[in-house]
Amino acid sequence: MAASSRMGVLAVYLTLMAAALGLGGTSYDVLLGRRDATTASIDDANNDIPTPFMDLPALQASFESHGLSLHDLVVLSGGHTLGYSRCLFFRGRLYNETGTLDPTYAASLDERCPLSGDDDVLTALDDTPTTVDTDYYQGLMQGRALLHTDQQLYQGGGDAGDLKKSQTHIIIGLVTNS
Ligand code: HEM
Ligand SMILES: *[C@@H]1O[C@H](CO)[C@@H](O)[C@H](O)[C@H]1NC(C)=O
Repeated sequence: MAASSRMGVLAVYLTLMAAALGLGGTSYDVLLGRRDATTASIDDANNDIPTPFMDLPALQASFESHGLSLHDLVVLSGGHTLGYSRCLFFRGRLYNETGTLDPTYAASLDERCPLSGDDDVLTALDDTPTTVDTDYYQGLMQGRALLHTDQQLYQGGGDAGDLKKSQTHIIIGLVTNS
């Protein structure tokens, strides 16, 4: 269910970008439609789309199984400059990962996502959910990654210290070059 709803999410994303609906920030033309298939499979979606609870190695493996690199993972996750997430997908991060969450940000999330209930209440993935900008990446660096998976892009990898360092460079490079 989660995965299929995220398939819908991707379609919305492409439409928004292409329709130039007056979102602030960067815009560019994209071709609509897909070249990989003419049908959709809910089973493939559930099996092949990463979940928001994965750690960095699992995310990387998931992307690699589709021929996508670590760099691709970090860049494409920038799609989270737009949109919202349900409480259900970040509750674990909010209550169990306080060490990597900015306390002021965490306090604002508490109100929107209690320990139980309000599963479907939405919170923005970055501070500017209707603008294509670098705020999402700035947020990762400042303890305001809403999803566990986004936080992992900045500091994941557990004992893989080199990996962590290289990711930080990828993100800072993206932010400062834009
Ligand atoms: C790296 C693996 C990814 C994971 C684990 C992930 C996970 C999620 C989750 C859990 C949500 C919230 C969905 C909901 O609450 O219903 C979400 C929203 C969203 N995702 Fe991702 N995502 C990933 C990659 C991507 C990519 C590659 C893009 C596009 C390039 C993208 C674009 C979006 C957008 C635009 C939203 C907001 C949708 C809305 O507000 O309706 N995500 N993602
Ligand atoms: C926090 O982690 C514990 C131990 O893994 C788990 O039992 C609990 O459900 C988690 N809390 C949330 C809100 O996810």
